[in-house]
Amino acid sequence: MADPLLTSSPHRLMMTSALPYANGPIHIGHVAGAYLPGDIRARYERLAGNDVLWVCGSDEHGAAITLRAKKDGLTPRDIVDRYHGEMQTAFEGLDLSFDHYSRTSSPKHHQNAQDFFKTLLDKGSFEVKTEAQFYDPEAHQFLADRYIIGTCPKCTADGAYGDQCEKCGSALSPTDLIQPKSTLSGATPILKDTTLWYLPMGRHEEWLRDYIEKGLFEGQPHHDPQTWKAHVTGQCRSWIDGGLQSRAMTRDLDWGVSVPVEGAEGKVLYVWLDAPIGYITATMEWAEKNGKDWRDWWQSKDAELVHYIGKDNIVFHCLIFPILLREHGGYNLPTNVPANAFMNLEGDKISTSRNWAVWVSEYLEQFPGKSDEMRYVLASIMPEQKDSEFTWTDYRERINNELADVLGNFINRVVVLTQKYYQGQVPVALVSASETADDAIIEALQLAPERIGALIQRNRFREALHEAMGVARLGNKYMTEQEPWKLQKNNPERTAVVLHHCIQVAGICSVVLEPFIPRTAKKIQGAFGVENAAWSSAAADMIPAGRTLNPLPILFEKVDESVVQAQLEKLQASRAKTEPTVQPIKEEMTFDDFQKLDLRVGEVIACERVPKANKLLNLTIRTGLDERTVLSGIAEHFEPEQVVGRRVTVLVNLAPRTMRGIESQGMVLMAETADGGLRFVTPEEGTAAGDVIS
Ligand code: 2FM
Ligand code: ZN
Repeated sequence: MADPLLTSSPHRLMMTSALPYANGPIHIGHVAGAYLPGDIRARYERLAGNDVLWVCGSDEHGAAITLRAKKDGLTPRDIVDRYHGEMQTAFEGLDLSFDHYSRTSSPKHHQNAQDFFKTLLDKGSFEVKTEAQFYDPEAHQFLADRYIIGTCPKCTADGAYGDQCEKCGSALSPTDLIQPKSTLSGATPILKDTTLWYLPMGRHEEWLRDYIEKGLFEGQPHHDPQTWKAHVTGQCRSWIDGGLQSRAMTRDLDWGVSVPVEGAEGKVLYVWLDAPIGYITATMEWAEKNGKDWRDWWQSKDAELVHYIGKDNIVFHCLIFPILLREHGGYNLPTNVPANAFMNLEGDKISTSRNWAVWVSEYLEQFPGKSDEMRYVLASIMPEQKDSEFTWTDYRERINNELADVLGNFINRVVVLTQKYYQGQVPVALVSASETADDAIIEALQLAPERIGALIQRNRFREALHEAMGVARLGNKYMTEQEPWKLQKNNPERTAVVLHHCIQVAGICSVVLEPFIPRTAKKIQGAFGVENAAWSSAAADMIPAGRTLNPLPILFEKVDESVVQAQLEKLQASRAKTEPTVQPIKEEMTFDDFQKLDLRVGEVIACERVPKANKLLNLTIRTGLDERTVLSGIAEHFEPEQVVGRRVTVLVNLAPRTMRGIESQGMVLMAETADGGLRFVTPEEGTAAGDVIS
């Protein structure tokens, strides 16, 4: 078993955090999902003296990038260069301590991904098929991934992508979608032949089941499945139970890693094939820079592989990437994939397009130097097992009641009293002056670091943080009960004992909290003269008597209610900007008024532009009564050929009106969409021209 808790043998821990798409700024949901957990774990492992390597980088391929570029009228290269830089700045601002941060558009990564693909090709891991795929006849492009949306066949959510439904996490193929639409033009796609390289995942069901369910790999114990989160194992199990479908590993696009096969011009690797290989490229780059061998981290038997990700990435890391690694051969498989669920914000899903988010860069601008505060709150509410929620009120309360009142207040009291009674020198604790209360606190202190470390290794960060803060709470309680300010008057020896122990508590806090709030930890360590802190140094005798303490900087400032209000107003303002304005309801009408409308199902049998009128189309509509001319102001939204053949709702008893010399004999009903578009009000399937609408 490779679980570090089950073995004391030295191991190398290869950690990755999901490569974020370089298509937009980072928000707190991203941080809580894949980056803060990685950072807490990596910092802990380094403090514990374990051999750990933590890599990440920007995911710079795929439709996430090209669609963003199209929307902004820029090239994909402009987009990835911009956001690669911005994301790195945001990560640095939150003190995320990656050993290496890479990017997948680098030539080194392209080469690496192509070599990987070629190895799989040579091993016969793919099936090549030429078959009909969805194609947008207007945009002249094959549609897959985020280029196509529709209704999810599994959970019926709208807006599922061609490769995945983000609502239920299901992996999909474009042809699975119900009512697919091109996200480029809104058009219903047509089918056109193309050649794709497929990964026949069905071939791998049996060993994957053993791997996920029993922690077995090639018949040998590989990891303890009990250490995996239930929601991760559960998702994998249900996919395997549902039968694994073949997935295309190439795309007909011009942005990405070219398929290294002759005759495959204009084709690139599927982003979910190249991105996880990016973890390997990142390790290679790090190794090259540091004179190390990357293979020690990916291929050695004493290395473990752990992926920190959000729940929407589970299928790719638990099933697809393991298949690729095994097919290639020589690689380790993940021993754990501790995916987090999602974090909501003030009662709503975080949404980039609706600007319903707390952006890291904005936060750091508005709250300079307060990275620990945000890290603390996010770690406290991390969505480890299920979705959680960030609110500004909770942010304020945690900072004021926990960081300031418990931790900050305790450390400050310890320093102030040591200055006051001992000119800043750590007093000696005489055994003769000790009492049972001291033994209790020493015992608790001795157990805490190990317990907290074990929780971090089990990826239970919320509990670990709670326990670490428990050390400060314990110190506060001990000090309050012992009342050194009273003892000082007639029992100086006992005062020294109490202060001595409180100083040790402060020292231990500075170590066990370092993975969570590293800046504060360093400030405390500076004040208590702790150099080169190590997890093992967190003990009840870590700060020797006689040492002189240094001044303590202010640790936390309380957050005023006005800060919460300002943030809520900011969020509401972005909601007001992005939410469609609802048109006020019109004046009331009677039933008789309504009865006057003669609405029918019509069929457009011909359509042409009206000369010299930019907005008008001339429609010939079969109404069941006749074939008539209707002019409609939709020419800026539809081409005539998009209109012919449609069933429409038509008002047939509108008084005729002449425009541009043409008499219009009715009106076609349209819906105005929130984004300013127009859509036909199309009668349901099964209706025909002439049907009366009432
Ligand atoms: O979901 C995402 O943001 C993806 N870019 C994650 C990629 S993780 C990996 F495999 F690189
Ligand atoms: Zn779904």
